Amino acid sequence: MPVNMERYEPREFSDFLERYIPELINGSFEGKHIVSVEQFRRNDLNQLFELAFDFREAVKNEEIIEVGKGKTMAALFYEPSTRTDMSFQSAMVTIGGDVNAASNGVDFSSVSKGETFADTVRAFGCYADVVVLRHPTVGSSYEAAYYLDRLNGTIINNPVLINGGDGPGEHPTQALLDAMTIVDFKGGFDGLNITMVGDLKYGRTVKSLSKLFALCEAQDTRIQLVSPKALRMTEDVLSFLSDHNIDFSETEDLEEVIGESDVIYLTRVQKERFDDQDEYERLKDSYIITPSVMERAKEEAILMHPLPRVSEMGSAAEQDLLDKDPRLVIFQQMENGRWVRMALMAKVLGVA
Ligand code: NCD
Repeated sequence: MPVNMERYEPREFSDFLERYIPELINGSFEGKHIVSVEQFRRNDLNQLFELAFDFREAVKNEEIIEVGKGKTMAALFYEPSTRTDMSFQSAMVTIGGDVNAASNGVDFSSVSKGETFADTVRAFGCYADVVVLRHPTVGSSYEAAYYLDRLNGTIINNPVLINGGDGPGEHPTQALLDAMTIVDFKGGFDGLNITMVGDLKYGRTVKSLSKLFALCEAQDTRIQLVSPKALRMTEDVLSFLSDHNIDFSETEDLEEVIGESDVIYLTRVQKERFDDQDEYERLKDSYIITPSVMERAKEEAILMHPLPRVSEMGSAAEQDLLDKDPRLVIFQQMENGRWVRMALMAKVLGVA
């Protein structure tokens, strides 16, 4: 058989949005790359969260989990991260596996010598069973999944890719931990008023979470989108919500909806995505949720944030005060990232 010498010329990342189609989970996670929330349905979430809650219980009871023994995860991060990076590492170690990374970060890897993205991804895929990718460009995780698939059968390893945030595109595992937190505090997906506030244009977490609620066919759940006009939710997500018959509304006025919200999901204005920093300065403090603003929220509401928070919860003193409000669940939300990522990795690795 002639060797296929097709050259992998660099292409636009967006080409791969068409070239690589993420597989539906459909009850079976094993070996599937996790690129978009569009792969999930309600049953998949139920299955995943059940395991995540079991893992949480096991860790609470100081049980040793070993399902991931012999497995390795590598984080390939081209953008800053605290929680996503740390929680993936902690998740892999907690299920008994190992973590692997370019010793001094991606800036000191062969990326600085001009290596193509496709080759760097495959290098990581040779040395890890799970590659978690964070990248500033939409479509990057599709390209990574595509090239990892091309490794199939050529090496012994058979790595799985997980999208840890692709620019202003998606952040599927954040949506999973956010949904798990909502299930945790609100008992399910249905009958909720979910208010998303802040930068809905560039924020990837709100896009993934909105789509996830649509996909799990949340009943009697309404999504209230609060943003300045310049930072409105993108049209693709709005049409996705309409196509899935999710009830949603848009407003610039938080006061209009805060009192009827069961979940308030606040986000940071994404400074790094603005070409015009004056525009960022003008918009960055559009919504500030302080303890006095929370006085108008329901007693049983929860206040979430994917973090990091910058100025959208006020000054450091106001944040300290807000931290004492039991409705603020950001630390539980953050910790849920560990349990859900343990469950997700165990499932894609086919060990739980
Ligand atoms: C978010 C992200 O990176 O999209 N952070 C996270 O992963 N928890 C939100 C943000 O950076 O504002």
